[in-house]
Amino acid sequence: MILGYKEINNFLKENNLIDYKHHSAVNIYDNLKKAVEYLKPEIVLEIGTFNGLSTAILANLCSFVFTVDIAYRPETQVVWDHFNLLDKINYSIFKDREEIGKFIKKIQYDFVYIDANHKYEEVKADYEMVKDCNSILFHDYHLDGVRQLINEIDGQPLAEFAYKGTQQVKGHYKMEWKTDPLFLGKVLENNY
Ligand SMILES: C[S@@+](CC[C@H](N)C(=O)[O-])C[C@H]1O[C@@H](n2cnc3c(N)ncnc32)[C@H](O)[C@@H]1O
Repeated sequence: MILGYKEINNFLKENNLIDYKHHSAVNIYDNLKKAVEYLKPEIVLEIGTFNGLSTAILANLCSFVFTVDIAYRPETQVVWDHFNLLDKINYSIFKDREEIGKFIKKIQYDFVYIDANHKYEEVKADYEMVKDCNSILFHDYHLDGVRQLINEIDGQPLAEFAYKGTQQVKGHYKMEWKTDPLFLGKVLENNY
């Protein structure tokens, strides 16, 4: 089964866990799933796990996910266990970015998904740690800090995400304003 918003949302709804969706990139547009299907990474490093919903999408489509955060959330285990993804995920909690940096140097990955603190200095510091990777996806391109960084590094908008990497991203993007239940604000409609 290819996991998407529908499957995750149904599971959360049936189990009265709908609050888990807050702050997640997993939304009705399914743009994370589409971007990952398009970019086809193998081993992923995710910075910013929260409840592990985006991790589930990534682990379902890729062979392995390292996901790091600075705060442990038990909700992650419930989601990953339900979708049988525990074997494909390494979940590590660190006290700060310096510790994350040490961990990152010891692992190998071919794709980074950055979705942690979205202030400019913070997202830039995350990017600096991983910028040698050929494929980096950022969430929340509509937020000022992320957009500023993406402009500086010449990244490419990809729906509410932005991509920086060597892979050519198809460029048919239609910008639209939508009333978004998750308050994403400006959403870029794309055509993969
Ligand atoms: C927006 S949530 C992530 C949502 C998740 N990626 C999803 O789409 O389902 C941001 C997460 O980043 C974490 N975070 C904040 N600063 C961080 C840092 N410097 N390094 C790693 N994680 C951080 C927060 O604790 C929070 O869990």
